[in-house]
Amino acid sequence: MKTVIITGSGRKKGIGEALALRFAAEGYNVVVSDIGVAQGKEFAAEHIGNTAEMDEIVLACQEVAGGRAIGVVCDVRSAESCQNLIQKAVEAFGRVDVLINNAGVGYLMEPFVDFKEESWDAVLNVNLKGAFLCSQAAARQMIAQGGGGSIINIASQAAKSGFPFAAAYTASKHGLVGLTRSNAVELGKFGIRVNAVCPNHITTGLGDWQNKFFAEKLGLDYDTYLQGIKDRNPLGRTGAVDDIAKACAFLASDQASYITGEAMNVSGGEEYH
Ligand SMILES: NC(=O)c1ccc[n+]([C@@H]2O[C@H](COP(=O)([O-])OP(=O)(O)OC[C@H]3O[C@@H](n4cnc5c(N)ncnc54)[C@H](O)[C@@H]3O)[C@@H](O)[C@H]2O)c1
Repeated sequence: MKTVIITGSGRKKGIGEALALRFAAEGYNVVVSDIGVAQGKEFAAEHIGNTAEMDEIVLACQEVAGGRAIGVVCDVRSAESCQNLIQKAVEAFGRVDVLINNAGVGYLMEPFVDFKEESWDAVLNVNLKGAFLCSQAAARQMIAQGGGGSIINIASQAAKSGFPFAAAYTASKHGLVGLTRSNAVELGKFGIRVNAVCPNHITTGLGDWQNKFFAEKLGLDYDTYLQGIKDRNPLGRTGAVDDIAKACAFLASDQASYITGEAMNVSGGEEYH
């Protein structure tokens, strides 16, 4: 039985929760993980997944037929915390086959000329450094145990295109694609495939915050803003968390055995390159 670790998967309605449930349904051992407690104004309670939510998601994974799941608090900004996450997965399930770097901060948005250094650091430390630290700890384990593996980085449409007020977010997600490509080249000889998935608009807790933020900037009400997004999308809708989970399940599987270094758009045809 394969084991998947998903960072930032302890928040209800999030992409991480959908990933955990999808991989549980696919027969994986699932390690749900999140920061767990609010930390300062950059990681306030309304933006993060707390331990109670994480416990509920673990339980839901266990209730999926044959589901084996654990929850581990991990702040991806800390090397020690990332190392502990891998260790706990190995203690529970014996090995690590798939890592999904899903933890992300997308709510620190400010005009570029006023962008605060603390906000820049908070975003880059989670979205990019966090993926580096978790990938490094996971790759060491995958190399030591043998048999290859799969690392998937949840990037964004902001990894391909620019967005206003989002200098740090956009830079971090472009950087994440760079990390994906570099790691794919370097880890290929160990049979470790590294890919990124690039979602666009999904109304998660984070997506809801972004909808409100951009609607206000454009002077639109929430529903009008959301309808505008749907009207511009070739498939006429916003994304669903399970759209991302299905793409990740494919990339983690043997069906994607010759795919590495890819940054796959899952955007309803909105993003091309
Ligand atoms: N929702 C969208 O429209 C959308 C679009 C493109 C990309 N994404 C990306 O998808 C990923 C998941 O986002 P989501 O929309 O499900 O939002 P979400 O807020 O539900 O999930 C993000 C998770 O990251 C966790 N997190 C934040 N800081 C952390 C830290 N230091 N250590 C560990 N975990 C931490 C949060 O607690 C939260 O559970 C993010 O990387 C986001 O950038 C989302």
